[in-house]
Amino acid sequence: MKKIRKAVFPVAGLGSRFLPATKAQPKEMLPIVDKPLIQYAVEEAVEAGITEMIFITGRNKRAIEDHFDKAYELEAELEAAGKEKLLSMVREVIPKHIHCMFIRQSEALGLGHAVLCARPIVGDDPFAVLLADDFMQGAADGVGVMAQMTAQYEKHQASLLAVQDVPLEQTKQYGIVSVQPFAERCEKVNAIVEKPSPDKAPSTLAVVGRYVLSPHIFSYLEKIGKGAGGEIQLTDGIAALMKDETVLAYRYDGRRFDCGSKLGYLQASVEIGLQHPETGAAFSEWLREQRHAG
Ligand code: UTP
Repeated sequence: MKKIRKAVFPVAGLGSRFLPATKAQPKEMLPIVDKPLIQYAVEEAVEAGITEMIFITGRNKRAIEDHFDKAYELEAELEAAGKEKLLSMVREVIPKHIHCMFIRQSEALGLGHAVLCARPIVGDDPFAVLLADDFMQGAADGVGVMAQMTAQYEKHQASLLAVQDVPLEQTKQYGIVSVQPFAERCEKVNAIVEKPSPDKAPSTLAVVGRYVLSPHIFSYLEKIGKGAGGEIQLTDGIAALMKDETVLAYRYDGRRFDCGSKLGYLQASVEIGLQHPETGAAFSEWLREQRHAG
């Protein structure tokens, strides 16, 4: 039985909804309180037992590579200043047993194309895809969304898409699936369409930024050509894969913040600010005061 050991992080999008913040850095480097979005996603993958992290980077790639690399000068200065706590925080950004690899997507031709760029490293293994701008908080019992999905993969040995119900008017922002019963929290996908208008949507079950995919997806991604928005769409690759293999929709247990949008980013910042051991109590007090003052 194959286990999921590789994760692909497509971070080469333009991030146009977050300009000018994304003019010189990828949106995945935007911090939620004190950690960039991409670090939360990598931690989620590590928790799921994944050891090979493959980043598909774009023209503003440096910040992410540097973030997961050793920071010699910074470490030397923190050490000299005796700032042990900060030093270990910087050193522990990535655990020692984890490998990071970077592939450049020279043109932002779409998410499907970004995933296809990982083929030389992923090879014939099933793999995870995490879109770091979908910030996921795991279940109340603490199990992260990717760990839930790799556990499901081990049970069913099939590709999985994380899904959630969305309001009907939002179907045009997502890949939407129609499904039939399969197992607890898991349904079999019958059809998938990219960003349908509400009157054309087969359901309100939307795909969000976590996937476990069979390596056969690559040969379809290679063939499909441009789809919605003139981009090579991962959704179209999945639609082709589904004709030959079972694809499951997994209703994840947890919460999602769409940090590719300003509102979702603000909501995640407030939520994590309230949970954070350093800021939680004071921030909560401040919010209470603001409400009373208003
Ligand atoms: P989005 O649809 O959110 O696009 O991409 P975007 O360009 O990042 O953001 P906006 O819409 O312009 O504000 C979904 C994910 O796919 C990656 C993005 O980095 C994001 O994680 N992506 C998208 C690529 O890596 N390459 C692409 O060509 C397109």
